[in-house]
Amino acid sequence: MISEIDNKIKEASQFKPKDLKELEKFRIEFLGKKGHVTYFFSQFKKIKENEKKEYGKAINDLKKITLQKLEEFKPKTNPENKLKNKAEDLTRPVSALELGVRHPISIIRDKIIDIFYKIGFNISEGPEIEDDWHNFTALNLPEYHPARDMQDTFFINKDPDLLLRTHTSSVQIRHMENNNPPIRTISPGRVYRNEDISARSHCFFHQIEGLYIDKKVSFADLKQTLIYFTKELFGKSKIRLRPSYFPFTEPSAEVDIYWGLNSETDHRITKGTGWLEIMGCGMVDPNVLENCKIDSKEFSGFAFGMGIERITMLLYQIEDIRILYENDSRFLSQFKKSI
Ligand code: PHE
Repeated sequence: MISEIDNKIKEASQFKPKDLKELEKFRIEFLGKKGHVTYFFSQFKKIKENEKKEYGKAINDLKKITLQKLEEFKPKTNPENKLKNKAEDLTRPVSALELGVRHPISIIRDKIIDIFYKIGFNISEGPEIEDDWHNFTALNLPEYHPARDMQDTFFINKDPDLLLRTHTSSVQIRHMENNNPPIRTISPGRVYRNEDISARSHCFFHQIEGLYIDKKVSFADLKQTLIYFTKELFGKSKIRLRPSYFPFTEPSAEVDIYWGLNSETDHRITKGTGWLEIMGCGMVDPNVLENCKIDSKEFSGFAFGMGIERITMLLYQIEDIRILYENDSRFLSQFKKSI
């Protein structure tokens, strides 16, 4: 057996191919699946124990010399030849990169930010994991206040003091704690509520809340700001303020916009009334100002808050909130034109 290997070693070491074809034939003959090396290895178990060492070494020598030959005669390449062989044209234009698109929620958020930026509002941001003080207590929602039930809350590790913020009003508290009036700020961000997921609601969504604090700010200023905003965003300025309740504002109101009843869709989405609720608002409760060490006798202000999803769904006629979070490119690519 060993002499057979020796013969093959001799044969391999004398090998000198005429062309690449012959080299390839040699490779298959020696190293292929059914080649000599594999064959000799497969016979290993039949070899007598005291000859195994020598036999193994012989096969390895055969393998080594074959590999050396392959290396020695393989076509010499230099990078330029490689390119020429493949006939690649380096001046050819590359295929276009598929560009991503802005998410509809980002598009609408930025539009809203722009609208308020034009009338002097800056942007404030805060943490999504909040403490009780900023999310509830400072907003005139003391512990055990029944209005806390309006916003079902996710708590962190069962710690009653740490929670996922239920609204970005918490950012307004932080802003008032750190800045002196006059204050004009809007707070965009993600908020969380322990609610069932359906076509109309989700356990998280995005909000933009606004805050205006100065001397002699009145309800008329609030109304004027809202009319300006709805006209800019929706192209419609007929609004109505429906009395409502929020613990942090007094008086409080729900803002409805007159959407019209021009189409069947208008009838459906406004339930036949022509009116649509778009946000909550009110005059900041003096207790909230005092909680942030702002003198409520000298300063007053208004606040408002809206869900970006609701407005996005209205503007793009989206029926189901869940599609906004699925990242389905068939849906998202439709917003290409809106960038
Ligand atoms: N924070 C309220 C909410 O999330 C919205 C709101 C903000 C209402 C400011 C009035 C004033 O529901």
